[in-house]
Amino acid sequence: AAPVILDGDPGHDDAINFLLALASPEFQVLGLTTVFGNVGLERTTRNALIVRELSGANVPVYAGADRPLVSPRISAEAVHGQSGMDGPHLPVPARDAEAEHAARFIIRQVRARPGEVTLVPTGPLTNVALAFRLAPDIAGLVRRVVWMGGSTDTGNWTPAAEFNALADPHAAHIVFSSGVPLTMFGLNVTHQAIAHPARVAAFRALGTRVGEFAAVLLEFFAEHHRERYGWDGGALHDPMTVAWLLRPELFVSRPMHVELDLTGGPSAGRTLADVWRVMGRAPNAEVVTNVDADGFFALLVERLGRYP
Ligand code: BDR
Ligand code: CA
Repeated sequence: AAPVILDGDPGHDDAINFLLALASPEFQVLGLTTVFGNVGLERTTRNALIVRELSGANVPVYAGADRPLVSPRISAEAVHGQSGMDGPHLPVPARDAEAEHAARFIIRQVRARPGEVTLVPTGPLTNVALAFRLAPDIAGLVRRVVWMGGSTDTGNWTPAAEFNALADPHAAHIVFSSGVPLTMFGLNVTHQAIAHPARVAAFRALGTRVGEFAAVLLEFFAEHHRERYGWDGGALHDPMTVAWLLRPELFVSRPMHVELDLTGGPSAGRTLADVWRVMGRAPNAEVVTNVDADGFFALLVERLGRYP
């Protein structure tokens, strides 16, 4: 099985991504690592612990950065609620996170398995950037970083910037300029997969605890998307990362050069993607452009259906 580390800020869609990976025997999930993002680190970590328990998996959880490297902290209670995972009943987790910092855990695991570990960040890139700064050798030892964040077109937190990119643009810059093999799932593709009511119903129809948990998460997540975009459901961003590792044929991508806007102006945090290669610079990311949304949701339902 392929060793992966899932790094996120759960987060409705982060939670579903964790559940997708933990249900899939193709992966050896080395750990769940958490970062500030949708809400503060304490809450994203608690949510990861809750998801771990729901999954029944015996996988360690490591807390990481509680703030960005340089920019002021932002958060997304308006989208994810005060807990960061509003909707379902959230029990008090029985087991705690490990003591080691997420960045240290990442370094340790990557060095122990050179060339093998895939990092799957679905929040701000702060933990990955910290790991790359503490241990510059590991950028060359990571198999691939598969990130949900950015956009080749418009943003969702400013007209130019997507939330995960804006939440720590300097961290994103460190990762995008590190030379690590990198796949980017921006809003340009994640907005193609809307969890509309019929898709939510398919999770509920599983008739399991995990199926119901996912359905309630998606119903809460839909509210913001109805108000803001007028869509009949939430855009299921984060699970595309793990879905791509499982079924790349559901997606279309192309190599591009992507640069973070660190200028602090109105487009700060933008992932400026050279779609037409007008700058002639060597690509630093495989940018995903299209998804077979029905196939993606079918995969999710099938995998979450594996939980008893
Ligand atoms: C991203 O921001 C968060 O709200 C989601 O979990 C996702 O990772 C989408 O912009
Ligand atoms: Ca996220």
